[in-house]
Order: sequence, then C-alpha cells, then structure tokens
Amino acid sequence: MPDTQIVHLNGAFLPIGEAKISVLDRGFIYGDGVYEVIPVYKRAPFRMAHHLRRLQYSLDGIRLANPKDDAAWDELVRALIARQPFDDQAVYLQVTRGVAKRDHAFPKGAAPTVFLMSNPLPLPTPEQVAHGVAAITAEDNRWHRCDLKTTSLVGNVLMRQLAADVGAVETVMFRGGWLTEASASNVLIVKGGKIAAPPKDHQILPGITYDASVEFARSAGMPIDIRPISREEALAADEMWLSSSTKEVIAITTLDGRPFGSGVPGPTFRRMYAAFQSHKPPGSRRV
Ligand code: PDD
Repeated sequence: MPDTQIVHLNGAFLPIGEAKISVLDRGFIYGDGVYEVIPVYKRAPFRMAHHLRRLQYSLDGIRLANPKDDAAWDELVRALIARQPFDDQAVYLQVTRGVAKRDHAFPKGAAPTVFLMSNPLPLPTPEQVAHGVAAITAEDNRWHRCDLKTTSLVGNVLMRQLAADVGAVETVMFRGGWLTEASASNVLIVKGGKIAAPPKDHQILPGITYDASVEFARSAGMPIDIRPISREEALAADEMWLSSSTKEVIAITTLDGRPFGSGVPGPTFRRMYAAFQSHKPPGSRRV
C-alpha cells in the first residue's frame, strides 16, 4: 500500500507514513492489546455488531476499558472506509494499553492507543475456491486464552510460518489429540454430509465467520454439530474447511502434502459456499 494510505491514530486521520507511536507503547513492548479484522463488502462492514461485541469481550479479557462505545466505533470505521479508494476492504482495528514506562503491571492513567487501517480485502482467488488449498498440521502450543483476540500473536505467527515454509496456506492445530483451529482461521469438518466444528472454548478464537457459517448452514437446513473433534476424526473426515473474515469459507484439499478427502472441494463445501455468498450484499457475491 502507498505511504499515502489514510489510517486513523488516536483521533486523527493521516497518511500511514506519518502515523507514529512511541517505542514505549505497550503494544510494541508487550503485545498488550487487542484487535479486530472486519471484512467490508462494497463499503458496507459485514457483521460489524458481532465484531464490536468480540472486541468488548477481548478488552474485558485483558482488563482494558473500551475507549469508545459501539456508536463511536461504528462511525469511526465507516469514516475510515470512506477514505479508501477501493470498495471491498479489511478494516484492521487495534487498541493497546498505551504508552508507559516499562513495567509489566498495568500503568496508572495511560491513555489507550487506538489505531485503524483498511486494506483491500484479500479474498481467496477463484482458483483457490474452485480447487481448494493446501494446509499442514501441527501441535497447538499457544497459550490457553486463544479466545481473546490479542495482538500477542507470535505463537500464531510461528504456526503460520510452518505452512508458509512449505507453500501451504494454513496450519491446522491439535491440542492433546483434539482439533482446535488454524493459525488465523477456524476449522470445520464434514463427514457423511454432516458438518462439525469444535466448541467455542478458551482454545479457539470465537470466529465471526465460524458463527456466520453455523448460522447460514442451519438456515439452509444443513446438519451441523458443535462438539469436540479428535485428531482421528478430523483426519478421516470427507471435507475440511477454513473460515475467516478474509477467507470466507475455503476447502482444504491437500493436508500434510497428501490429497485430503476426495482431493477437490466437496459437495457440502459447495453448498456452504453458495449459502455464504447469498448472505453477502448483492454485487459482492461470487459464484
Ligand atoms: N484472523 N482463529 C484465529 C486464530 C484467527 O486469527 C482468526 C481471524 C480466526 C477467524 O475469525 P474471524 O472469522 O472472526 O475472522 C480464527 C484474522 C482474519 C487475522 O488475524 O487477520
């Protein structure tokens, strides 16, 4: 993105090249902050209320007061969207515990740092939708509060890099033999036409796209179960999907270097994908 891309920092809109924070920002020093990624179709945020609810949940989880109410967030996000030259966007929103002398304990009286930027929405290519993507598996070694969307992402970064190292798009993780999620996506499986997804506990991020997929599947009359999924069950599934705000729903067709399921996106995926598209604003739907 050009240096002139307009971002928001602590109350001001300015070119990204001019947006500066202190080296003492606790986001920089400790990863002490939370974030959201909100997909935007044709300049309309998708499921904004859900993202703002999760933002509040993450802020509560790290004991940081929300610097804005939902109406103010909504206005700010829309003002940022209006300043971008492209229609489909991914708004990145981050709140940190602010600038203070380095000390692990919470600083008294520090103002939170609020940063937002918006980039073009990097949806999977039509080719990836048609043929699926490659993923690998690994043991989930992250902390036990993966339900909080914190900016402390080095665990996820290392997992994602394992995939990048072998040209795959994601790393699907198991903790003690149970499916959790992927490095930046949730994971759903299908067996015998029935969808299953792990429960939203502390081991996974409560994905907005996961929720949307569950809701859209149910309204389309597709059977879906939320329950723990063992590694054996996951690896023996007919289909495996990734969901995220920037991926929508995408099929994994290669896992650990071998074809997964039938090696092509399955019939249940195609139904889910169509259902997902039908819930997007007209004009931004894909076939
Ligand atoms: N990642 N799990 C993890 C670990 C994630 O980082 C994400 C999203 C998801 C899916 O959540 P949602 O459907 O709300 O996007 C699950 C975002 C897109 C990111 O960090 O860029």
